[in-house]
Amino acid sequence: MTAQQAQAIHVRGLEKSYKELRVLRGVDFTVARGSIFALLGSNGVGKTTVVKILSTLLKADAGTARVNGFDVATQAADVRESISLTGQFAAVDEILSGRENLVLVARLRHLKEPGKVADDLLERFSLTDAGGRKVSTYSGGMRRRLDIAMSLVGDPPVIFLDEPTTGLDPQSRIEVWQAVRELAARGTTVLLTTQYLDEAEHLADRIAILHEGRIIVNGTLSELKRLLPPAEVEYVEKQPTLEDVFLTLVGADGRNGQDRNVGTNA
Ligand SMILES: Nc1ncnc2c1ncn2[C@@H]1O[C@H](COP(=O)(O)OP(=O)(O)OP(=O)(O)O)[C@@H](O)[C@H]1O
Ligand SMILES: [Mg+2]
Repeated sequence: MTAQQAQAIHVRGLEKSYKELRVLRGVDFTVARGSIFALLGSNGVGKTTVVKILSTLLKADAGTARVNGFDVATQAADVRESISLTGQFAAVDEILSGRENLVLVARLRHLKEPGKVADDLLERFSLTDAGGRKVSTYSGGMRRRLDIAMSLVGDPPVIFLDEPTTGLDPQSRIEVWQAVRELAARGTTVLLTTQYLDEAEHLADRIAILHEGRIIVNGTLSELKRLLPPAEVEYVEKQPTLEDVFLTLVGADGRNGQDRNVGTNA
């Protein structure tokens, strides 16, 4: 196995423009197998664009990306077999029950015993009791959990979660976080995008910030925190939060972040 194959995701020099709008200008990162990688960035910076390229929905203009050892440009079918994508907006069918949604996906993926696959996933996501009810009666958190459960039918080794908890209440977010942690514990590689810095703090093994077309930092939470000088000691010392790191690097208004002073809310 080469070093590239040992990585679940390997991205080099990725570029993408929409007409004159240069969104990605040389994006590089790797994600180790079985880890959780969070891609952070302001609205419109290109997070969904990265996810779409990695899931073969969109072609890059330049650069290479390998997922589960397969090249997204030349081995798209192999990539698709290796991944699942939970998009920014839930893709569940409201009229069907949760269980019927899962059975449908299992049938589409030609799995044996689709009913058993559905029941196992309902149990894993604490949806057994609600499984027989129409999705239109589910809460936002239940829908999200079902959405993630549907993306796990067939046990893909790599999953992409584009803003998995946007719009959820704190309790539902914690439930989704728990589900994501369990995935990684079973060896699934998770790449998630998020606007919520605390989500990255709680979940991710590594965090990368996408800004002006490139990854400007990539590290563990403690590595990112070390980028800022320790907080001044008055009576109590407070470590910078990921939010402080993010706003300093990106800039509070999204521009000229690097030469900006550390915010006073540290
Ligand atoms: N199909 C498209 N045609 C033209 N411009 C697009 C298209 N898709 C995305 N864009 C633009 O590319 C930029 C990046 O979009 P993208 O959806 O990747 O951002 P994002 O980081 O996911 O944002 P958000 O946090 O709002 O989800 C935005 O300025 C967006 O308007
Ligand atoms: Mg997006």
